[in-house]
Amino acid sequence: MVTVRPCEEQDIALLQKHIPTPGQPARHATRFERQQLGQSTFLIAWLDERPVGAGEIFWNGCAAPEINKHYPTCPELNGLDVWPPELRSHGIGTTLISFAETLVCQRGHHQIGLGVEDGNTQAAALYLRLGYQETGLHYLDRYQYTDDDGNLYDIADPARFLVKSLMLA
Ligand SMILES: CC(C)(COP(=O)(O)OP(=O)(O)OC[C@H]1O[C@@H](n2cnc3c(N)ncnc32)[C@H](O)[C@@H]1OP(=O)(O)O)[C@@H](O)C(=O)NCCC(=O)NCCS
Repeated sequence: MVTVRPCEEQDIALLQKHIPTPGQPARHATRFERQQLGQSTFLIAWLDERPVGAGEIFWNGCAAPEINKHYPTCPELNGLDVWPPELRSHGIGTTLISFAETLVCQRGHHQIGLGVEDGNTQAAALYLRLGYQETGLHYLDRYQYTDDDGNLYDIADPARFLVKSLMLA
């Protein structure tokens, strides 16, 4: 059975062992640091003792200014990933999303958002099925990537922003 809980410091080594972060060697540690600073909650999905997925709630909204100016108080579920790929389409992503929605609701927010890259039609289909709605807002999802030779690249992937209204059950 899959369970979800916020990351703890001792989880970082297991995350590094089981969930690769190509081009972003410090990704798990950076996400945990943001959580420690109160900027986010770094959620991990576990299957038995093994991490099989992750996502991060940005409490101050989407980092992209073109989205944040419209949704400054809407927490964003960012960087959702299930690993390894053969574990996808088994409900782990839905479990992570549901946990995030409950947490956001418990903190008194009535809305959660997320970005999906243009072309990621499968992920978008999942979000729309779960009740996320189009905002019509498009933006560039910016992050940095380091290749095997240590060269740093600035990436800007076109994406769109979806939101879902939340109500306490
Ligand atoms: C998107 C993702 C997090 C969803 O997690 P998941 O555990 O596969 O989701 P669930 O099993 O709860 O739901 C799967 C459904 O989402 C869709 N889906 C999304 N991504 C999919 C993928 N890579 N493979 C298969 N189905 C996918 C399918 O419509 C599927 O429907 P189903 O009910 O017919 O199986 C996961 O597939 C993943 O890590 N994909 C690669 C990274 C990614 O795209 N992240 C999203 C960034 S916005």
